[in-house]
Amino acid sequence: MEFLHSTSKQKLLIVVTIAIALFTVIPIVYSFAKDPNFLLKQQQPPSQINTIIKLQNDVVTTNENCDIFSGEWVPNPEGPYYNHTTCYAIPEYQNCMKFGRPDTEFMKWKWRPDGCEDAVPVFDPWRFLEIMRGKTMAIVGDSVSNNHINSLICLLSQVEYPMDTSVVPGYRFKRWTYKTYNFTIATFWTTFLVKSRPNPTLPRLGDDLFDVYLDEVDERWTAQIGDFDYVVMSSGHWHFRASIYYENQTMVGCHYCQLPNITDLTILYGYRKAHRTALNAILALENFKGVMYLRTFAPSHFEGALWNEGGDCLRKQPHQRNETQDETTIKLYNIQLEEFRRAEKEAKKKGIRLRLLDTTQAMWLRPDGHSGRYGRLPEAKGRSDCIHWCLPGPIDILNDFLLAMIEREEDKGSLAQVR
Ligand SMILES: *[C@@H]1O[C@H](CO)[C@@H](O)[C@H](O)[C@H]1NC(C)=O
Ligand SMILES: *[C@@H]1O[C@H](CO)[C@@H](O)[C@H](O)[C@H]1NC(C)=O
Ligand SMILES: *[C@@H]1O[C@H](CO)[C@@H](O)[C@H](O)[C@H]1NC(C)=O
Ligand SMILES: *[C@@H]1O[C@H](CO)[C@@H](O)[C@H](O)[C@H]1NC(C)=O
Ligand SMILES: *[C@@H]1O[C@H](CO)[C@@H](O)[C@H](O)[C@H]1NC(C)=O
Repeated sequence: MEFLHSTSKQKLLIVVTIAIALFTVIPIVYSFAKDPNFLLKQQQPPSQINTIIKLQNDVVTTNENCDIFSGEWVPNPEGPYYNHTTCYAIPEYQNCMKFGRPDTEFMKWKWRPDGCEDAVPVFDPWRFLEIMRGKTMAIVGDSVSNNHINSLICLLSQVEYPMDTSVVPGYRFKRWTYKTYNFTIATFWTTFLVKSRPNPTLPRLGDDLFDVYLDEVDERWTAQIGDFDYVVMSSGHWHFRASIYYENQTMVGCHYCQLPNITDLTILYGYRKAHRTALNAILALENFKGVMYLRTFAPSHFEGALWNEGGDCLRKQPHQRNETQDETTIKLYNIQLEEFRRAEKEAKKKGIRLRLLDTTQAMWLRPDGHSGRYGRLPEAKGRSDCIHWCLPGPIDILNDFLLAMIEREEDKGSLAQVR
């Protein structure tokens, strides 16, 4: 992979600018849901009842000692379990089959964890909704988190489409309710996890420059999260952008700001501090009864050239598990792990259920699953999107993992009740 051999400065430039290209895409994400009744009007009977009923009999292993996140992708000729004709809620930028992606093999893999093959069964939407009856779930993060939710809505569409019950306009803070199950999903948009804003005074290379307040919570999510039964938090790609870092309301340095009088503390500094602040905010929640999942970084897969010189993601198959991850992904991932472990100790003392949704390896192994050039009309010019993910596709695994984790939690819950 040439990308990996480029100098670190080039790498920074790549990711910084990718992020910018990326985020111009987002406003189209929820255009399908502009009409609040649209989802209702479109209710369709499930088309795959037979497959699903069979799957409901699968037994889920609850072996605590098995790490479901360590494993490999194996062929699954039965996949996928929905497509762009059965699920209308796939946004354009993830709708690869609609825009003519010619190969279909990328939809035909399943995750096989080491030593506990059955621990992550095919997603069972009936089971998921039954567990979630009367509950609420929040997804906190950026556009990759939105990919995660879109996948969930499609997986669940085999049973029911939700109603848009958002209380504020726009795509950043949405709510959907599954009426039959009284289950609500809410999204909380946060780019850096902590308080941030575009820097109003320093123009930089024509790009945005962000002020990131590494020790201040982003109250748009922290103030609201305490009532949810399940919270999934993640952060990644925005941290690559040029930022000025603040602590205690004072500038302490920056990341890739290229300003002569400011120390470059690197992305790693900001990434760690932002996670620490966010995790501390969760530890500080009063009366939080829910389960908090930190989802680890889902990397991009640009190859062959720099992102703006034709870098692309053309692979049609997963990596084999021995494929080495790129250095930055490993470093970001390790920071998440370290900050998680640190917070987990505190969480245990306080009785807060903090869990790791450790998806980096599985997603790293799927360079074949990105939207690439199939997130829009073929004649539309533009760069390849090797950050977001086709639906159906490998990003669906996030929900398989989530369900497996939630089931473990529910098992513990019922055991606790018996005692
Ligand atoms: C989508 O799935 C349905 C139901 O399984 C199937 O009948 C249809 O042929 C699929 N469409 C495409 C384009 O794969
Ligand atoms: C629906 O669930 C919410 C909590 O998620 C609960 O407060 C409410 O009472 C439930 N409504 C019904 C009709 O069960
Ligand atoms: C933060 O800054 C204020 C003054 O601006 C100072 O009094 C205080 O000690 C600082 N706190 C920390 C933790 O550095
Ligand atoms: C750093 O330099 C920029 C312009 O190069 C200037 O606007 C800014 O005020 C300087 N900051 C400090 C802390 O000196
Ligand atoms: C991974 O293993 C396969 C065979 O098992 C080998 O062909 C391939 O070169 C290896 N790749 C790396 C990056 O080591």
